[in-house]
Amino acid sequence: MGDYMNDPGWQFLRQSQEALLAATTKKYDAKKNIWIADPEEGFISAEIKSTKGDIHTVVTSKGAEKTIKKDDIQQMNPPKFEKTEDMANLTFLNDASVLNNLRQRYYSMMIYTYSGLFCVVINPYKRLPIYTESVCKMYIGKRRTEMPPHLFAVSDEAYRNMVNDHENQSMLITGESGAGKTENTKKVISYFAIVGASQQKKKDAKDSLEEQIVRTNPVLEAFGNAKTVRNNNSSRFGKFIRIHFNHGGKLAGGDIEHCKFYLFFG
Ligand SMILES: Nc1ncnc2c1ncn2[C@@H]1O[C@H](COP(=O)(O)OP(=O)(O)OP(=O)(O)O)[C@@H](O)[C@H]1O
Ligand SMILES: [Mg+2]
Repeated sequence: MGDYMNDPGWQFLRQSQEALLAATTKKYDAKKNIWIADPEEGFISAEIKSTKGDIHTVVTSKGAEKTIKKDDIQQMNPPKFEKTEDMANLTFLNDASVLNNLRQRYYSMMIYTYSGLFCVVINPYKRLPIYTESVCKMYIGKRRTEMPPHLFAVSDEAYRNMVNDHENQSMLITGESGAGKTENTKKVISYFAIVGASQQKKKDAKDSLEEQIVRTNPVLEAFGNAKTVRNNNSSRFGKFIRIHFNHGGKLAGGDIEHCKFYLFFG
């Protein structure tokens, strides 16, 4: 990991050992520290001061004293899970803990988080140096557990499974308008162009298949898009994108099919 830590993208992929250590020294009592619903924040932390029957008296992180039913609180995870990379590890897998984990990671601009098999992404609305060729190369041929969460890790796993099992693989990229589906799709295509690159000579690199496939990226934006409140470049069609590889795992072509979402777009 030594070299990776010097990459400008690394800070957006994994929290430093110091940050994790600082989090683990936080005071925590599993019987007292809890989450309660909050109309503005979703959930806020609170500490149980006393309990009578089914009712807790708590002090919230906003400093307010409140009474709350036992059934309405959600348990808090120990600080060692702060900004955990895979939420399947959480001791308490409740809404408040999942949202808190994603929020804390997002504050540090770590936009990718696993939840078991899924990779959750939150739109950073700014260009992070996490899609560079150097980051891409970090993920090639690595096990998912070896590296911080990234869409490249999911892509690489799919690629390895295809090569090893000779089975077609699919990735589903879904989310509300403006979530980042098209952006992430473009990154997946670029990743496959790099891992599946044929050993072509430099001089015809411009016309190589991987170049041609990456050049389809603008097509993803250009066709059937429109401005919405959430997105300047909102896709009017769902896209089923197939990337073909030959038996050696090298790129062999690609095609795109459109599916119309009459229900969504009228
Ligand atoms: N990973 C990212 N890094 C930087 N900016 C991003 C990223 N993901 C999304 N964005 C920004 O958010 C905008 C919306 O993302 P995108 O077009 O991918 O949304 P979408 O999920 O395809 O939405 P729709 O359903 O409306 O087509 C992008 O134009 C870009 O400015
Ligand atoms: Mg889109």
